[in-house]
Amino acid sequence: MNVADSEVVVSILKDSGFTSTDNINDAGLILVNTCSIRDNAEQRIWGRLREMGHLKKRNKDLRIGIIGCMAERLKERLLETEKLVDMVVGPDAYRELPVLIAEAEEGHKAVNVLLSREETYADISPVRMDKNGVSSFVSIMRGCNNMCAYCVVPYVRGAERSRDPDSIIREVNELVSSGYRELTLLGQNVDSYSWKNDSEVIGFPQLLERVALINPLLRVRFSTSHPKDISDELLHTIARHENICKHIHLPAQSGSSRILKLMNREYTREWYMERVSAIRRIIPGCAISTDMITGFCTETDEDHIESLSLMVWAAYDFAYMFKYNERPGTKAARKYKDDIPDNIKSARLTEMIALQNKLSAKSKKQDVGKVFEVLIEGTSKKSSEHLSGRTSQNKVVVFPSSGAKKGEYVNVRIERCTSATLIGEII
Ligand code: 5AD
Ligand code: SF4
Repeated sequence: MNVADSEVVVSILKDSGFTSTDNINDAGLILVNTCSIRDNAEQRIWGRLREMGHLKKRNKDLRIGIIGCMAERLKERLLETEKLVDMVVGPDAYRELPVLIAEAEEGHKAVNVLLSREETYADISPVRMDKNGVSSFVSIMRGCNNMCAYCVVPYVRGAERSRDPDSIIREVNELVSSGYRELTLLGQNVDSYSWKNDSEVIGFPQLLERVALINPLLRVRFSTSHPKDISDELLHTIARHENICKHIHLPAQSGSSRILKLMNREYTREWYMERVSAIRRIIPGCAISTDMITGFCTETDEDHIESLSLMVWAAYDFAYMFKYNERPGTKAARKYKDDIPDNIKSARLTEMIALQNKLSAKSKKQDVGKVFEVLIEGTSKKSSEHLSGRTSQNKVVVFPSSGAKKGEYVNVRIERCTSATLIGEII
């Protein structure tokens, strides 16, 4: 999400005549894109800002701006106590950047953190910052209308808005013409994508299908799905199109219905399991991944065990796992006590990570002996004679190059695996 935002910002600045530099010492303007989802992301930014203090001492004309979610959340603190910040620009105000930069150059503090109900940056072609030229992201919506009790996103990124599908299709066409072979459609809750025109309502299954039909050589991924909203119609759409990747990121957050209710996730353990069963039934061989939070308010050992047992039952291929971190202003911060001691949160997280490592290893072992179509993303990090790519299920595969090139599809038989990678041979 943040990379996609940075690409929009670079595009806006390029159109106003700015150029970029790889050397921070040459910069006349530094914009730091920020995330507020967990406190450690914010702490890293404070650290970076302090490091930048010495650059400012050396170059009085240097301007430093904070953009993104922290801008929205912490504008007073940024401007008042961190004197080196000249600009604070929230995620819906990037079009104003050229004007705000001019104000900052005059020596004024420049601020715009207004959230919008309409802004989707639909007409802006992001300047791609990815290195491989094969896979990239396309933002299809902004903001979020869910109110998960732990989550700061609706407060810092505003209400949900869907982007005009024609502008999405245009951007995808441009990317395909410049050689991209894999795109991930991005939104906080892609299942609630909705665009009304005079004759029809385009939902996420229709949008996904339109993108998939652009070119059979283009792989399409998407993230993130919400368990309460993911529909059979979407699953059938994925099953129908070979080039829609067979991987769904379906964050459960917890396996305990009591905790899910406190989290305001609007589904139960049973509902979640039914959705996973539907994926297995409609899209055989589909990989499933999750996000999990340990130590949410009032979580008991029994609740934690329910999270672990859900993970075993779902046999996740991959998981992002976090300790609950109270975020100011959220419903959980206002209404519940953050009552699970940090050592218990950590112990539960460690146990959960160890379990997921076993599940991930098992999922990879099951692939040994099978043949997968792999999109080549480049040479392997460890050896220039090996290539690296991904299966439709989003698993990384490394194999001897045998003359194949980046951006091509090859069939690879999996011979063995390490903890993170499948290793095989082109057939
Ligand atoms: N504490 C811990 N994890 C969080 N996430 C979101 N907010 C919090 C929080 N306050 C996690 C969720 C979400 C992922 C992007 O980050 O698991 O799915
Ligand atoms: Fe946050 Fe929930 Fe929205 Fe995801 S769906 S961004 S967790 S509020």
